[in-house]
Amino acid sequence: MAQAWTKSDWRNKPRVQMPDYTDPAALHAVEAQLSNYPPLVFAGEARSLRQKLADVGAGKAFLLQGGDCAESFAQFSADSIRDTFKVMLQMAMVLTYGAKMPVVKVGRMAGQFAKPRSANTETINGVELPSYRGDIINDIDFTAAARVPDAARMLQAYTQSAASLNLVRAFSTGGYADVHQVHAWTLGFTEGKNAAKYRDMANRISDTLDFMTAAGITAETSHALQTVDFYTSHEALLLEYEEALCRIDSTSGLPVAGSGHLIWIGDRTRQPDGAHVEFCRGVQNPIGLKCGPTTSAEDLKVLMSKLNPDNIPGRLTLIARFGAGSVGDHLPRLVKAVKEEGANVVWTCDAMHGNTIKSASGYKTRPFDSVLREVQEFFGIHKAEGTIPGGVHFEMTGQDVTECTGGVRAVTDEDLSDRYHTACDPRLNASQSLELAFLVAEELQQRQLDIAKAG
Ligand code: PEP
Ligand code: CO
Repeated sequence: MAQAWTKSDWRNKPRVQMPDYTDPAALHAVEAQLSNYPPLVFAGEARSLRQKLADVGAGKAFLLQGGDCAESFAQFSADSIRDTFKVMLQMAMVLTYGAKMPVVKVGRMAGQFAKPRSANTETINGVELPSYRGDIINDIDFTAAARVPDAARMLQAYTQSAASLNLVRAFSTGGYADVHQVHAWTLGFTEGKNAAKYRDMANRISDTLDFMTAAGITAETSHALQTVDFYTSHEALLLEYEEALCRIDSTSGLPVAGSGHLIWIGDRTRQPDGAHVEFCRGVQNPIGLKCGPTTSAEDLKVLMSKLNPDNIPGRLTLIARFGAGSVGDHLPRLVKAVKEEGANVVWTCDAMHGNTIKSASGYKTRPFDSVLREVQEFFGIHKAEGTIPGGVHFEMTGQDVTECTGGVRAVTDEDLSDRYHTACDPRLNASQSLELAFLVAEELQQRQLDIAKAG
């Protein structure tokens, strides 16, 4: 059983990666205000996501989690939300086809504002300033004033999250998510050296939809073809914000994070006795835990028992992020730890954070081929271990940015400066994201064949 917990206990634990606000009165005023605002998500929704993730853990569904590295105040627009939502639906459709199972869709959206940083300061042309920590904390401008943490930014992040969720909820049910429309967008994707292969899969999806229509299963007759369940997620980094939005679920009487459906603990804040683990262990939401090259089997065992003491299926998602070429060095020891504990977990692959490099032109980038390779290695290890590769996690956008290299439209090093807009890490653009979905769908099809063969 879990130990006693209150939403402010994290304050007694060592904290890392969080700002030191210089105006405590302003901070308290913001916390008091947020504590009175409505939660952004509701306990029943978090519960339904947990049930879907339990299906993922059991190999009956597949998880797609994606969105910005860091949401930004300046780039907030209906178009950017819509375009990311649209590409995620397209990816989900292709993945559903490959996996022959439902795809659980979770955006890095409506709350993904706070960023852990590898250095506390940043130096440009000999000037050293505190690092940018995400729009919810400070401003990206390179001036001393901009980099001062400002608690009022939490209110703007809340407002933007509420507006984002409002749009997402409307898109999810208002006809925009109709399966035929989503597929029509995908049919336009027929570029590059693999175009014929992608077209072939898209045509097979068309055939399936035509068959369903002929059999009388249409958007008019089937609710499921017209609407989607779309969930939100973010790193629970800024614990003042998380605490202020924590609520008691009236159904169960238990605490729930009202800031998003799933919250995760980052690779830099997963200290078993630290503040972030302390906060997350007490809320009912599904919890993500990043697992990186420095995650030991021992730490993972402690973290699993703290975060999921009752071993509830769907409660804990382990987000592996090792980097292409390194999955085999790390994932097996963690899979073994999970087996030894008999723990219920969802395994998913963040194929972004272990694959960041500096391009010759000076931009932080990620090669498309490394992202794909990490996913393939992740599938390979799970096949060897007899465990379930439950999902994928991408930093991506529906916009036509040039931040990651490669893909069918072959973004090169030299192209990166054209449309490099991310507030933090490089994201896959719309075409790279969809192409990746086709390639992951192939992996999933292969997995289905292997399972059928094994009988
Ligand atoms: C992230 O997901 O944006 C992130 C910072 O990841 P990690 O904690 O795995 O480095
Ligand atoms: Co990132």
